Amino acid sequence: MTDKNLYCYAGIFDTPDQIINAAKKVQSDGYTKYDVNTPYPIHGMDSAMDLKPSLLPYVALVVGFLGAASALFFMWWTNSVDYPLIIGGKPFFALPAYIPITFEITVLSASIMTVVTMLFVIFKFPNNSHPLHDTDYLKQVSVNKYGIVILADDPKFDESNIKQVFASLGASQVFPIFYHEEVINFKPRIFEPKFIWFLIILFVLVSGSTYITLNKLMFLPPYNWMMKQNKVIVQEKSEFFKNGKGMRMPVEGTVARGFLPYEFVNKPELAAKDLLNPLLPTKYNLELGKTKYNIYCSPCHGYHAEGDSRLRGQFPNPPSLHSEKVRSWSDGRIFHVITEGQNVMPSYSSQLSREERWAVILYVRALQRSLNAKESDLP
Ligand code: HEC
Repeated sequence: MTDKNLYCYAGIFDTPDQIINAAKKVQSDGYTKYDVNTPYPIHGMDSAMDLKPSLLPYVALVVGFLGAASALFFMWWTNSVDYPLIIGGKPFFALPAYIPITFEITVLSASIMTVVTMLFVIFKFPNNSHPLHDTDYLKQVSVNKYGIVILADDPKFDESNIKQVFASLGASQVFPIFYHEEVINFKPRIFEPKFIWFLIILFVLVSGSTYITLNKLMFLPPYNWMMKQNKVIVQEKSEFFKNGKGMRMPVEGTVARGFLPYEFVNKPELAAKDLLNPLLPTKYNLELGKTKYNIYCSPCHGYHAEGDSRLRGQFPNPPSLHSEKVRSWSDGRIFHVITEGQNVMPSYSSQLSREERWAVILYVRALQRSLNAKESDLP
């Protein structure tokens, strides 16, 4: 005989050992719809109840894979199919560059769907009531008792048999628990008209005030002072100039501040003749030249300018600067190489100021003398 409103039969036990035994017995008796409630997690309960692993890790796995696949697909589609752009010379489908996004989407979708599944599938949200809520049973098992319940819809449910089993296991109380009214007549409250109206009004208020703030209020003085400035914005059309462009090209021959054009482009012979080193080989200038040489030249030419850097063999070998040729060059000729570059050697005019280039040359001269000193060099 089962009552329509009967939810379960509950047994209350006093010690953790009793509840473990009870769970083992109920499990071995073949009940499938039962649950155990204890004030704290009890070791061995999972195996006593023969609990199956949770569904959530599988949800996380599947949704994570879907997230990774859709992120990769989307990036492939946008970057290789719909709007292919060459970025930094990389292939359209540049997998390493896509890894961070793929990773983030995987984690994001897996974690969100795990929580959503837990709430809506496992906890059956928006139903947030449960027949055990607010019962004397739950009050006891959340303080110092251990309880087990066998649900009335278990196929093996038999009231008298359960009473007897619980008693034989040493239960201190055995009693039935009935459904509350609200559980029987459960209607999700989120579908109540009042709540729907609340959402609609909230939506109108938030979007309306955002719209008014950003599109109307911000354009009223004094807020618009920041927005409306008398200046040409990049790419903006200008009515002022005839060609409609807001930006002006510099007048031909304009020289940027602090920048002197190099007048010997492609004229090494003239540079060799006309350029004189304006710096004296003072301690300061040599120190400056050494610092800059070590930073910008030594990676290829080596610390002693013998062409023996660590790049040797991986690069067209940089020549030694101790050759007859370079030693016989004027300072202006070397200046030309540093400024313009020479074949595979790039220009260093943007890394080194004019003064620094001359200082580097003083240092190169010092290095040359160190290998090919003459008697006349001695004081
Ligand atoms: C990226 C490597 C690299 C760097 C850095 C570099 N060079 Fe060179 N340099 C070379 C190579 C290679 C050559 C030979 C170019 C050629 O084939 O004509 C060369 C040639 C030269 C020459 C002419 C030598 C000759 O025999 O024709 C001079 C002088 C020179 N470099 C000075 C410098 C100075 C000074 C610096 C530092 C500001 C510097 N280089 C930085 C690679 C480099």
